[in-house]
Amino acid sequence: MRVRQPIAVLAALLVGAVCLRASAADTDGPSFPGIVDHFKYGSIGAEEGTGVPVRIWRVLPEVCAGFLPARPGVGYERLGFIQEGAGHGRPVGTSFRPGRGDRVGLNCATCHVGTLRDAPGAARQVVVGMPANQMDLQGYARFLTACARSPAFETSAMMAAIRRGTPDGGVFTRLVDRLFLVRATRKGILDRARENAWFDVRPPQGPGRVDTFNPYKRLLALPMDDVVGTVDLPSLWNQRRRQGLWLHWDGNNDRVEERNKSAAIGAGATPKSLDLASMQRIADWALDLAPPAYPTARIDAGRAAAGARVYAEACARCHAFDGAQVGQVTTIAEVGSDRERLDSFTPALAVAMNTIGRGRPWQFTRFRKTDGYANMPLDGLWLRAPYLHNGSVPDLRALLFPEERPTTFYRAYDVYDWDRVGFVSNSADAARDGVRFDTALRGNGNAGHRYGTDLPAPEKLALLEYLKTL
Ligand code: HEC
Ligand code: HEC
Repeated sequence: MRVRQPIAVLAALLVGAVCLRASAADTDGPSFPGIVDHFKYGSIGAEEGTGVPVRIWRVLPEVCAGFLPARPGVGYERLGFIQEGAGHGRPVGTSFRPGRGDRVGLNCATCHVGTLRDAPGAARQVVVGMPANQMDLQGYARFLTACARSPAFETSAMMAAIRRGTPDGGVFTRLVDRLFLVRATRKGILDRARENAWFDVRPPQGPGRVDTFNPYKRLLALPMDDVVGTVDLPSLWNQRRRQGLWLHWDGNNDRVEERNKSAAIGAGATPKSLDLASMQRIADWALDLAPPAYPTARIDAGRAAAGARVYAEACARCHAFDGAQVGQVTTIAEVGSDRERLDSFTPALAVAMNTIGRGRPWQFTRFRKTDGYANMPLDGLWLRAPYLHNGSVPDLRALLFPEERPTTFYRAYDVYDWDRVGFVSNSADAARDGVRFDTALRGNGNAGHRYGTDLPAPEKLALLEYLKTL
C-alpha cells in the first residue's frame, strides 16, 4: 500500500502535467511565424462572430458527445475537422484569440484544407488550398446548437466540465465563467441558431459544402427567400493567375482581394474585427500557392498527350488560363447545370454586398449579378472532386460519361479512385465513413455541362487521362 502511493502520486502529477500541456497548446496565439502554420491555425479575426470561448469549446465534444455525428475520428474530427499529430492542441481550421472570452474561431483553412488517402488504411495526406471535402460546417453549427439547448450547458454542469478541462483556471476566471461567460455563450449560440433558421427549410448542406450567400442576406437585412445557395467548396490555388477573372461560382466578382475579404466575413469576421495584417499574409501567400501534382507513375503519358489535343479543341477556350473565355460567365441556358446557387445571389444582394466595408479603404465595389456560372481555371482539378458548383458529380469519368452520373453517392470519404479521377463514392467503406448525397434534393441537380460528352469513348478516355495532369 505504502509503496504504491508515491507511484500513484507521481502518475497523477504526470497526468496533470500532460493535461496542462494539452490545454496550453490550443491557446498558442492568433498568429504564427510560418505561413502554412498561420494559414492552418492562425486568426483572421473571425472569433467575434462564430467563436466559442476556449474553456467551453474544449469540453463540448465530451459533454455533448451524443450530438456528434457517427463519422470516423474522435471529438471534433467527427464533424470533419482535421486533427494533425503534433504541435497544436486544436484541429486545422481553428484559431485562437486571447481576450473577450479567449475564443476559438474559424479561419480560411476550415474550408480550404482537405485530405486524401491512397487506399483504405494508408496514411492521410493533408493538402493546403484543397477544398475541405470532409468538413461539415453546418454540422458544426448544429452540434453547437444541440449542445446549447441541452442540460449539459446549464451553468453548474458546464462549470464542472470546465474545471475538468481547464484544471489550472484561476479563481477570478472561474468567477467570470460562472457569473457571465457560460450564460452569454449559450445565449450567443442560441441567437445564432435563430438567425440560421433558414437552414431548416433547405436540404442539408452536408460535408464539403456551404451555402455561401444566404448568410449575407441575413447580415444585410434583406428579405429571405427559399432558394438554396449551397455550393461545393472551391480550391484556393494560384490566386495571382485569377486576378481580374470573374469568379465565385457564378462569376459575381472580379477582384481577388474582395473575394478574400468577403470569405473572411462569411467565416464570422466583421468589418471591424477583420485582422487585415493576417489576411494580407494569407492573400500574398495564396497568390502563388500551387496544387500538388497527380502522381506521374499513374499517368499514361501517350494517352494524356492525345487527350491534350482533345482538351485544346473542346475545353481550353473556357478553362485554360489563357483561354479566350476563361473568367467569363456561360449563361445558365447554355451550361444547363442546377440553377439554385445562381438564383440565390439576387440583384438586390449584389447591390447590398457593395455596401460592406463602407468608409473603409477596402469597401467592396465589384459585386454584380450574372446570368450563369463562371468558366473557371481547372488547376489541381484532380483534388477538386466532387465536381460542378454544387458538388453533384463524384468524379471526372462521370462528368464525361453522363450515363454514369449516379443519382446518389457518398461524399467526404477521402480514399482516392485513381481510375475514375475523384474520391471513392460508392463502396461499402465510403457508405460507412461518408455522407450520402442525393441529387434529387433541391439545389443538388447533376444535369448540364455536356461539353465533351458526345466525343467518341477513346477520345473521352484520352481527355480523362489529360485532366489528371492539370
Ligand atoms: C465557411 C467556409 C469558408 C471559409 C472559412 C473560407 N472560404 Fe473561401 N470560399 C468558400 C466558398 C463556399 C467559396 C465559393 C463561393 C461561391 O462562389 O459560392 C469560396 C471562395 C473563395 C475564393 C474564390 C474562389 C474562386 O476561384 O471562385 C477565394 C479567393 C477564397 N474563398 C478565399 C478564402 C480566404 C482567403 C479565406 C479566409 C479569409 C476563406 N476563403 C475562407 C468557403 C469558405
Ligand atoms: C463554354 C464554356 C465551357 C466549355 C467549352 C467547357 N466548360 Fe467546363 N465548365 C464551364 C462552366 C460554366 C462550369 C461551371 C458549371 C457549374 O459548376 O455548374 C464548368 C465546370 C467544369 C468543371 C467542374 C470544375 C470544378 O471545380 O468542380 C469541370 C471538371 C469542367 N468544367 C471540365 C470541362 C471539360 C473537360 C471540358 C471540355 C470537354 C469543358 N469543361 C468545357 C464552362 C465550360
